[in-house]
Parts: sequence; structure tokens; C-alpha cells
Amino acid sequence: MTVEGDIKRQVQEFYNSVGWKQIGEGVYQNARYEDLRPVSREYIHRCHIRVARFLPLQGTYLLDAGSGPIQYPEYLEYSKGFRYRVCLDISMLALKEARERLGDRGLYIVADIANLPFKEDAFEGVVSLHTIHHLPADEHKGAFFGLHHVLKPGGRCVIVYTWGEYSPLMRFLELPIHWATRFIQWLSSKRRSRRETIQSEENAQSEAIELVRTPGTFTTKHDYAWVIDNLRDLPGLDIRVWRTVSTRFMRAFIHRKALGRFWLRFLFWLEEIFPRFFGRIGQYPMILFQKSESSTSTIERTGI
Ligand SMILES: C[S@@+](CC[C@H](N)C(=O)[O-])C[C@H]1O[C@@H](n2cnc3c(N)ncnc32)[C@H](O)[C@@H]1O
Repeated sequence: MTVEGDIKRQVQEFYNSVGWKQIGEGVYQNARYEDLRPVSREYIHRCHIRVARFLPLQGTYLLDAGSGPIQYPEYLEYSKGFRYRVCLDISMLALKEARERLGDRGLYIVADIANLPFKEDAFEGVVSLHTIHHLPADEHKGAFFGLHHVLKPGGRCVIVYTWGEYSPLMRFLELPIHWATRFIQWLSSKRRSRRETIQSEENAQSEAIELVRTPGTFTTKHDYAWVIDNLRDLPGLDIRVWRTVSTRFMRAFIHRKALGRFWLRFLFWLEEIFPRFFGRIGQYPMILFQKSESSTSTIERTGI
């Protein structure tokens, strides 16, 4: 097996046996990468809803590439006006879970986002959230152009990508995040040791805790300059903010008693005014493009 094949098998196994295992009612192990605390809920919700603004309102087929189990209710908004949401994922478990939510409004395909099994011009809309970064670095460009290839002329695509360690803002804040995280861990371990019940709770939840502690899987990212250099042929290429701050940042600095909800509202307001600035410096950009009405296959040939 090639190195690329090996990486994908590892990612697939991870999601089948760990990532999409439920650790609570409708909560997956993979949710540990998200901040699900009440103080952050409104901000996260508004970021999820943001995606829908850039997708067509209606159509026959919306492709969700790397759909996972459609884990958040907001995700259902994206395909509300579509006849079918085509869920494509490398993980069978993800698709079984997605079917629980979508039923016969969905079509389910186990496939690789870097080798889409669709004909050209098949979809009015394409969405892909947090998935391309699971591909080997040299397959990212082909995946972007492959998604463009399957768009209908006039169709639009939204990719939520991550700059990871290349986010200038999160890199700048790395040390404060580190120390704030250490401080919070120290505080909560002090609180925990005061609670007598903790041992029995831990026993009861041991399987869930085991899953949460399991290391993640392969990811790799490119930076802003790479996207501009490599994707500039995609019509209407635009990079806007999806979410500025990482989950680590939020857990470190956003707390109810420290007016966390207020600060997140303020941040969201800034993001709305300067979407491209925050898309460039923050953690998670939305990479948007479309297929022009006059599109020919030349662009696909130059891209892949
Ligand atoms: C981080 S999860 C995101 C899932 C979903 N888009 C969401 O935002 O909740 C990444 C998903 O991509 C899928 N995936 C990873 N590599 C893939 C590939 N090469 N082709 C298709 N799906 C892939 C995984 O199985 C997983 O369901």
C-alpha cells in the first residue's frame, strides 16, 4: 500500500472505531475538538450558521464531502432547500449515523474526497467542513479542484479549512494559551480532589474517558499563501472567517464569570465587519468559490 493509502486507512479506522463512537446521547468522541460549554454555544452556533449564507438556497443535490454523522443541528440548515443531501465519507459509521438524522433526504456514499465518484457538473452546492486537512498535503490542491469539477455552472462551494499552526493570531497567542490552560488544569485538579464522589464517577464513565483520551488521527495544513498561490484559478475564490479562535483558546480564556459570552459577541461583531482579515489571521477560514456559467474543463486540467 502507498503512503497515501496508509494514511487514509488510518484515518478511516480512527473514525470508524473512535471518532464517531458516541460518548453520550448524540455526542461523539470527536466533539472533544469542539467547545460545547454553554458560554460558547451562541458563538459556535453563529459560526455554523454562517456557512449557509454562502450556499445556494435550493437545488436538487447538495454534496457534503466528509459529512461525518451531521453532528450538529445547524448542519441541517445547509440542505434545507435541497431535494437530496449527498453525504460522502470515508467512514461507514459516519454515514450510518448521518442516515439516522437525514433518512431518505440523504444519499450515502463511502468514498475518498480526493477521488470523487461523480460526473462533472453534478451539484448545485458543495460543502466540506474540517475534512481536507485529513488528506496528505500533496492531495489538498486536487481535492479543491475536484470539488469544483463536480459543481454545476453557477453552483457554489464552501470549504471550512484550518490554518492550524499557521494561524498568525493563534501562533502569537500560543504562550498565553499554554499558561492559561495550565492554570485552569491546576484549578480544576484542586477542585476535583475535594470531591469524594469522583472515584465512583470515573469508574462509571471509564469507557467514555478512555475514548476521549485516545490520540487523534492524521492531519496536515497549508497556509494562506499556499491557498492564494495554488487555488487562484478557482472562480470567485474568496477567503473569509469561519471562526477566529481555536477550541484551546476558548477553553483557556472564555469563561462565564469573565464575561465570556460578551467577549465572543464582540469578536463575532468584529468578524462580521472584517471577514477577510479574520479569515487570514484566525484559526478557521472558509474558502469559497463557484463555477462560472461559462466554465470549461480547462480549469480542472490545470488544477489537478
Ligand atoms: C473532523 S470530521 C468532520 C465531519 C463533519 N464535516 C463535521 O464538520 O462535523 C472529518 C470527516 O472527514 C472524513 N474523512 C477523512 N478523510 C476522508 C477522505 N479522504 N475522504 C472522505 N472523507 C474523509 C472522516 O471520516 C470524518 O467523518
